[in-house]
Amino acid sequence: MEHYYCCCSSTGRMMQQGGMITTAAARLSAASAASSPRFFCKLAAGVATSSKSLHNLSSSSSISSSSSSSVRCSAASSSAVAEQEVPAASVRPVIRRVGRGSKLVGCGSAVPTTIISNDDLSKVVDTSDEWIAVRTGIRNRHVLAEGETVTSLSVEASKKALEMANVNPEDIDLLLLCTSTPDDLFGSAPQVQKELGCCNALAFDLTAACSGFVLGLITASRFIKGGGYENVLVIGADALSRYVDWMDRGTCILFGDAAGALVLQAVGDDQDSLLGFNLRSDGGGQKHLHVRVDNVPDTSHNGATTNGSKTNGTVIKLPARASYDCLQMNGKEVFRFAVRAVPQVIEAALQEAGLTGANLDWLLLHQANQRILDSVSQRLEIPTDKVISNLCNYGNTSAASIPLALDEAVRSGLVQPGHIVATAGFGAGLTWGSAIVRWS
Ligand code: ACO
Repeated sequence: MEHYYCCCSSTGRMMQQGGMITTAAARLSAASAASSPRFFCKLAAGVATSSKSLHNLSSSSSISSSSSSSVRCSAASSSAVAEQEVPAASVRPVIRRVGRGSKLVGCGSAVPTTIISNDDLSKVVDTSDEWIAVRTGIRNRHVLAEGETVTSLSVEASKKALEMANVNPEDIDLLLLCTSTPDDLFGSAPQVQKELGCCNALAFDLTAACSGFVLGLITASRFIKGGGYENVLVIGADALSRYVDWMDRGTCILFGDAAGALVLQAVGDDQDSLLGFNLRSDGGGQKHLHVRVDNVPDTSHNGATTNGSKTNGTVIKLPARASYDCLQMNGKEVFRFAVRAVPQVIEAALQEAGLTGANLDWLLLHQANQRILDSVSQRLEIPTDKVISNLCNYGNTSAASIPLALDEAVRSGLVQPGHIVATAGFGAGLTWGSAIVRWS
């Protein structure tokens, strides 16, 4: 039996934290993630198990325990709080029909206006257009300019996806923003929700670096399957340009910024667009790819320092302030990992779908390096004319790369209704996974 774990945190390391322990792990970000589970764990451990405290909780939560010492807890917000804080528009009857499929009904994408070419980069670091093009396939990348943000790109991409899907913003029930580079550490999804007018949606971030979109897609489909969610907007958006060292020729040549979005709609199981999937993670590989959080001594506290030395009379050791390092990558190791692990998850997902590579219309991999795309397609014996590639124009746009490439392929007529597409993401964490989908 497979076990799935989530690390709910808004202050984990940026690229991936959930991957430390798990079979499939991603970071869900919704601000005060720690307080509720900590409380319920204390409760489960018998710290607050008096009959009175259980009785007091009964109006807002349900708790069941079995004789085998496992305790299950579930909670709902109290109606008093809901009346005060939830906008009136969100009070809708929720119909829970479980076991349904998810249909892909719309896509959209957005890229920043500023383009940096290989020739531009060769003026900054010791590189050349030829070296970058031969080793990676990349020629240009788009990067955020003043006034552009992950949120603004996400909004632009989502509007196009909603328009194609013919779904109104207020009919979106769930908005997942898959990103490792939010504009707000606590998560940017609610800002995207606000800008779009998705007033009835639950919105939160999901962090799994370059695998983020595939994990988001599967997460969305599970919400639909569980019931109560009709229309889900999944966005992959990243701006790694803000975290690369532009003086490091080993990494700065690779990355660009973008957003892509997909609308999923609840349908009968027989129309399910999700045919099979396989998701993996291995925290042991974090050393090869990360954006670490460092602690810096902060002397700005009034009368106190973080190293516990001089104070206004009292020695007090305050926590250090967090600061991010630039993206660090062992390119060779990540390359080796990708060409070995990605074919395995695609084959496992195909097997779950009851398909083989011969049934695929398209292979759509995370757009990291053309040599990775070539190697994976060769191993799976998928001809190159079935491999979607647009990294030449955008570089590696992390969680955005799959929906960006899908959107271009759909709008240009390459991907047609009924086509079967094998998607696969891979990257920091390490995380990787494949989803076999049928378009529309
Ligand atoms: N221009 C010119 N020379 C360069 C450059 C450059 N931009 N970068 C490195 N070199 C040099 C190196 O210094 C080295 O020189 P040396 O032989 O004198 O020591 C030589 O080129 C070879 O360097 P390698 O690092 O071995 O080059 P490699 O062929 O491995 O390509 C690359 C590097 C493109 C980074 C590749 O390893 C790669 O794409 N790795 C996978 C990255 C990836 O897929 N990441 C996905 C996840 S990203 C995420 O999750 C956020």
